[in-house]
Amino acid sequence: MNILVAGGAGYIGSHTVVELLSRGEQVVIVDNLSNSREHVIDRIERITGKRPGFVKADVRDTGKMNEVFAQYKFDAVIHLAGLKVVGESVEKPIVYYRNNLESTWVLVDLMSKYKVPSIIFSSSATVYGETDQVPINENAEYHCTNPYGNTKMINEIFLKDVVTACPDISAICLRYFNPIGAHESGQIGEDPLDIPNNLMPYITQVAIGKLERLSIFGDDYPTHDGTGVRDYIHVVDLAKGHLAALDYAEQNPDLGFLAVNLGTGKGYSVLDLVHTFSEVCGKSIPYQITARRPGDVATSYADPSKAKELFGWEAEFDLKRMCEDSWRWQKCCDKFI
Ligand code: NAD
Ligand code: UFG
Repeated sequence: MNILVAGGAGYIGSHTVVELLSRGEQVVIVDNLSNSREHVIDRIERITGKRPGFVKADVRDTGKMNEVFAQYKFDAVIHLAGLKVVGESVEKPIVYYRNNLESTWVLVDLMSKYKVPSIIFSSSATVYGETDQVPINENAEYHCTNPYGNTKMINEIFLKDVVTACPDISAICLRYFNPIGAHESGQIGEDPLDIPNNLMPYITQVAIGKLERLSIFGDDYPTHDGTGVRDYIHVVDLAKGHLAALDYAEQNPDLGFLAVNLGTGKGYSVLDLVHTFSEVCGKSIPYQITARRPGDVATSYADPSKAKELFGWEAEFDLKRMCEDSWRWQKCCDKFI
């Protein structure tokens, strides 16, 4: 297959491209490098022995994207090109709406023009927002609590409307839970350009000495140790979920619209993660308990059975392996440039 990976230089995208190339697919990445670096393309080549096509462009640049679609006859689009920082989305809703919505409009418009049959879209467990029902299955209602989540929800609704009007296009929205970990080579991983917002990159930067101590946002949640519980999933498992979704779309051209969770089905607390990481890296992780972070839910983990039933996919790596790979990446990330 010939696949366009929009946002393919980023964290999840680069791992997905590695899996695609390793399986023999052709890949063209379009990325504006707003949250990634061009050396990722070299690293992907070093891991797989194959160089993906790379176009440095904004996915919203209709003229440029028209050229890209005209040049390559794509069989599918994987759309990961999005801004993803919840707090920033509250401060800059216009930037978030423009980036995260216009990018999908442009891609789908060109898919229609060039008869590309399927799109795999990066959605998020954030669309479920506050919910008491865990594990969360795909029938749970939308309860977004911030502009970032709203952009994911609106994209899903938009894609539903598109496939209804254009039966030749199908859309699979993958609702990711909490991706962590990195490729086992230590060459690609999550590379926050700023102080990390998410738990795992914060922990790894404390462990390496870049940051002094972790703040744990609340220890009075109704969970086994009072700290927030999440469904952490290895990014390589997540990447493989995209290939499984692509295969399903190819075999089921009439699927229309699907929303599917990608998670492990297991919940771990902040302290579970801190302790497992500490064992893996052989250092203690200094932390302090601070106030709850506004908008955080107590517990969120997936019911991943739909992905297993439909795609035959399930996550394989455990929490220890996620920590080992995150730690290796943290130690190696600056060494390969
Ligand atoms: P990332 O920032 O590492 O990757 C996104 C990539 O898209 C970056 O390389 C960025 O430069 C690029 N990009 C952004 N806007 C673009 C545009 N308009 N044109 C071209 N390129 C553009 O983020 P990630 O963690 O790999 O996330 C990928 C997708 O998955 C995002 O849509 C994100 O919202 C979604 N998601 C991520 C998580 C998570 O925890 N990482 C969870 C759920 C959903
Ligand atoms: N946490 C801390 N300290 C930190 C960072 C996080 O205690 O410095 C806690 C949070 O309170 C939460 C847990 O660690 O209990 C996980 O927080 P993350 O920020 O790593 O992840 P979230 O579950 O808040 O959100 C992430 C992404 C969202 C995405 C969601 C579901 O940031 O974009 O996973 O995929 F929508």
